[in-house]
Amino acid sequence: MDMNVRPESMARITTLELANAFIDEQIAALRAQIGDKKVLLALSGGVDSSVVAALLIKAVGKQLVCVHVNHGLMRKGESEQVIEVFGKELDANLIYVDATDRFLDLLAGVSEPERKRKIIGAEFIKVFDEEASKLEGISFLAQGTIYPDILESKGVKAHHNVGGLPEGMQFELVEPVKLLYKDEVRVVGEALGLPHGMVYRQPFPGPGLGVRCLGAITRDRLHALREADAILREEFEKNGLAGKVWQYFVAVPDFTSVGVRNDQRYMGWPAIIRAVNTTDAMTATIEEIPYALLHHITDRITHEVEGINRVCLDLTPKPIGTIEWE
Ligand code: XMP
Repeated sequence: MDMNVRPESMARITTLELANAFIDEQIAALRAQIGDKKVLLALSGGVDSSVVAALLIKAVGKQLVCVHVNHGLMRKGESEQVIEVFGKELDANLIYVDATDRFLDLLAGVSEPERKRKIIGAEFIKVFDEEASKLEGISFLAQGTIYPDILESKGVKAHHNVGGLPEGMQFELVEPVKLLYKDEVRVVGEALGLPHGMVYRQPFPGPGLGVRCLGAITRDRLHALREADAILREEFEKNGLAGKVWQYFVAVPDFTSVGVRNDQRYMGWPAIIRAVNTTDAMTATIEEIPYALLHHITDRITHEVEGINRVCLDLTPKPIGTIEWE
């Protein structure tokens, strides 16, 4: 039997009951696989790795070592949430690495999108490897591979993580949700007691705000982007759009325009709002945000975020525009 093929008899996990049955089954399987050995997991705080972490904590407790690398390109509050939920509430064995300076120093002056992505990806593996090689007695590497990853046969997660391990380190893979679809991972996550906001969070690219802080990233513009994005998310949550819109974010380009405040002219960046709906991210349509809310968001961003003096709305569907600006 191919372990990477979902059996036809496997029911879609849509209820708490089915999720609990899956969890019980996986806990037994994980304990059988892992025994008294140690497991390592790169915990990004995304849905998949969070659910895998919660499952493993239930199954093997402190034998799981989670490493959370903050690359400095997280959205506001995300690393804090990982520390709060996994470090404190679930009392996990969590290693938190603030690698912000390493990433931002390497990215300084780099404006080409593909190069930015490569730098972020390579440095992530380097930081993770460094942490992994400090640990002793690790036998397994857990991954948040889900069924679409296998179907799309990208193997991106597996390839990156395994390919990036220190030489000589032999880990066996632990992939407890590899036969699940995203919606099922979410139901399982809720059954495991993870916060709703973590389980239903919108997709967020691996390179994080790095693809939304356009051109060469600077700390002040990255800070402005993070604050403006937090306001957009807060307002979408307050106004019932957070659970409805598939993906919404702010991008900040690397040019300024003139603005006026207290009778003084000053230069500031524009914040571009993008809010899209899609099922598979291959095509996307534009969410029609009520104008009153847009005015309110504009007012808040331009008054609360240092450095931003305009708010623009992106009305471009995919195609012709991609979802991210890069
Ligand atoms: P585009 O911009 O190509 O994005 O229309 C399609 C979807 O993919 C997300 N995205 C990524 N997700 N790692 C990810 O896990 C990445 O490097 C990455 N780049 C883009 C993007 O946010 C959108 O949802």
